[in-house]
Amino acid sequence: MTDWNPAALPDSTGRVFVVTGGNAGLGYFTVEQLARAGARVLLASRSEHRAAAAMESVRRFVPGADLGFVPLDLSSLASVREASARLESLDRLDGLVLNAGMTTGSRRREVTIDGNERTLQTNYLGHFALTAGALPALQRTPGSRVVGLGSLSTVIVPLNADDLQSIRRFGFFRAYAFSKHAIHGFMLELDRRLRAAGSSTRAMIAHPGFALDALSAPRPGVIESAHPIAERALAFGAQGKNRGATPTVRALLDPALDGGAFVGPRALVLGRPVPARPVRSSASPEFGSRLWSLSERWTDTDFPVR
Ligand SMILES: NC(=O)c1ccc[n+]([C@@H]2O[C@H](COP(=O)([O-])OP(=O)(O)OC[C@H]3O[C@@H](n4cnc5c(N)ncnc54)[C@H](OP(=O)(O)O)[C@@H]3O)[C@@H](O)[C@H]2O)c1
Repeated sequence: MTDWNPAALPDSTGRVFVVTGGNAGLGYFTVEQLARAGARVLLASRSEHRAAAAMESVRRFVPGADLGFVPLDLSSLASVREASARLESLDRLDGLVLNAGMTTGSRRREVTIDGNERTLQTNYLGHFALTAGALPALQRTPGSRVVGLGSLSTVIVPLNADDLQSIRRFGFFRAYAFSKHAIHGFMLELDRRLRAAGSSTRAMIAHPGFALDALSAPRPGVIESAHPIAERALAFGAQGKNRGATPTVRALLDPALDGGAFVGPRALVLGRPVPARPVRSSASPEFGSRLWSLSERWTDTDFPVR
């Protein structure tokens, strides 16, 4: 595997990427790094105001950056369908980054307007339906990629594939980890199905290690921290989100990586982006296939790759 220098990205002029949650945190830095490589980047976010602030910041650091906004609230499948229609109509789509997510939440189980557990829908099911809608544009673009944001929480919380909706028991971190097991399973199953269908689109997973706003390169008006002192105390085992975004960008742009890759920091929670392995449970084809059917049902989606 060739080495990868996050500071010397391949020229991506003429390429188009969509980053969900591109207005904040890891998503923001993914947008900024792709824009620096010359790509056009669309921020799919639920707040036009926060997306505008992020675009203004990117343009401050990358003069002339080519950016756009797509409204998207992953907790509403109606909103996901509207965003999907916009993505489907793009002339080309070189990469779709499934980044947005709830990283904190309520102590009680909540459901969305669509009847799904809120963390599972926001982090995973909304992305499943969005990817289904965007697939025609991805497939019109040779060598396009879908990158899902995975997580080390899957190492800590074992998968319970019988309780993905947290009906039997709810804890936010448990529900969060299930949503990330689901992202892993989805990306690997999508990659298998795309290959079987003869498509050149590939799916991969990136995880940022442990990435904190407080350790990030400052981006006034975009990256703020409520508890900078507490977060800095954690700095021994964490990195800034500017570094945390580099596995995602490598998964999107490194021509040496193939579909099904899992990219994360060299020292697990921090460091340069290198190929790694997801936990076995969420990587199993049995889980991927079962997850696919459940996700089609829970999102009322007929995914255009069988
Ligand atoms: N940070 C880490 O150490 C870490 C580790 C492993 C995995 N990850 C994953 O990396 C991704 C980004 O994490 P982060 O740390 O950058 O989080 P963050 O700073 O909290 O940013 C989360 C992003 O998701 C968006 N979002 C939340 N709910 C949404 C919804 N219903 N519809 C559309 N967008 C929504 C947020 O939008 P608003 O600004 O509108 O709230 C924001 O743009 C997540 O998927 C997370 O699970 C992070």
